[in-house]
Amino acid sequence: MDEDIVENIELEENDPEEERFLNDLRPKTVKDYIGQEHVVGNIIIGLEAAKKRSEPIEHTILHGPPGLGKTTLAHIIANEMGTQIRVTSGPAIERAGDLASILTNLEEGGILFIDEIHRLNRNIEEVLYPAMEDFAIDLILGKGPSAKTMRIDLPRFTLIGATTRVGSLSSPLRDRFGLAFRLDYYAEKDLEKIIKRSAKTLKIQVDEDAVSEIAKRARKTPRIANKILKRVRDYAQVKHQGKISKKIAKEALSSLEIDELGLDRVDREYLSTIIEKFSGGPVGVETISAAISEDRETIEDVIEPYLIQIGFLNRTRQGRVATEAACGHMGMETKGQDQKLL
Ligand SMILES: Nc1ncnc2c1ncn2[C@@H]1O[C@H](COP(=O)(O)OP(=O)(O)O)[C@@H](O)[C@H]1O
Ligand SMILES: [Mg+2]
Repeated sequence: MDEDIVENIELEENDPEEERFLNDLRPKTVKDYIGQEHVVGNIIIGLEAAKKRSEPIEHTILHGPPGLGKTTLAHIIANEMGTQIRVTSGPAIERAGDLASILTNLEEGGILFIDEIHRLNRNIEEVLYPAMEDFAIDLILGKGPSAKTMRIDLPRFTLIGATTRVGSLSSPLRDRFGLAFRLDYYAEKDLEKIIKRSAKTLKIQVDEDAVSEIAKRARKTPRIANKILKRVRDYAQVKHQGKISKKIAKEALSSLEIDELGLDRVDREYLSTIIEKFSGGPVGVETISAAISEDRETIEDVIEPYLIQIGFLNRTRQGRVATEAACGHMGMETKGQDQKLL
């Protein structure tokens, strides 16, 4: 096995080179956005209604697990409206003044995209309320009893927020979005289309059965499909293979430690911890977090949603429980099951 290729496929947006690679693969129009038909259909209606009224599209919140295409959709909406998009994120806005200056500098009809909007500070959120509702902000001038507020008008704009945890949004903020869309995990056939489209863009030749192998193991997530495609291409180059065959794809995937269901080393460690150390559960998320040294947010937002989706995990009031299907896949039995067998 080539040691230098072994690393986990991360869902986080951290490596700038990889981010550039993913950016290049972003579809630019609703027509090129694959899958999520219910969302796309409603966005097209929203876009057309806005254009007819010559108004910006309504404030929109996009939510769902990482890598499903929220950022891509925000850019597509801007592109379809033919307007500028300003990109920032919840944690990046540290002071109310930062947000005020972003808002006052937007162009008429422009889009402000706030990623991870659930991490916005509450006092900064309050600047957003009048901005979203009345296209104005209230500045406080001076201090103490002589302080005055001054209202500043803003250009009409659209706020697009993206979040992995819509439940963490405060209700006053959530209520101010006219449109809300939840992105779902992708069907395998849609992932296959995405992989083919990416391969074409990157001028990579991939066999049909290699495409379906990658699609099967991509955690129903376009970002992972694209990242795997990139690693498989690199692997094929190292092995001096031109076209990507199923065999090469399988070898590359196993060097990445991605199994038949797309689970990586961290997913498996998570499951084996529940099954072996905690008899299959229920076990609290904090306990698992300490046992596998992953922070709680990563566990809840990245690892668990997919395991729940494929029926490997239940979240109960008492804690996390691994299902029999999970035990079967891991080739493990819980102590509880041992006792049942006796
Ligand atoms: N519906 C889609 N069709 C084609 N490619 C997609 C689609 N959704 C996401 N992608 C690709 O997946 C990658 C991650 O998408 P991104 O928008 O960054 O996800 P998110 O913001 O939800 O984490 C991008 O490279 C993008 O090109
Ligand atoms: Mg994003």
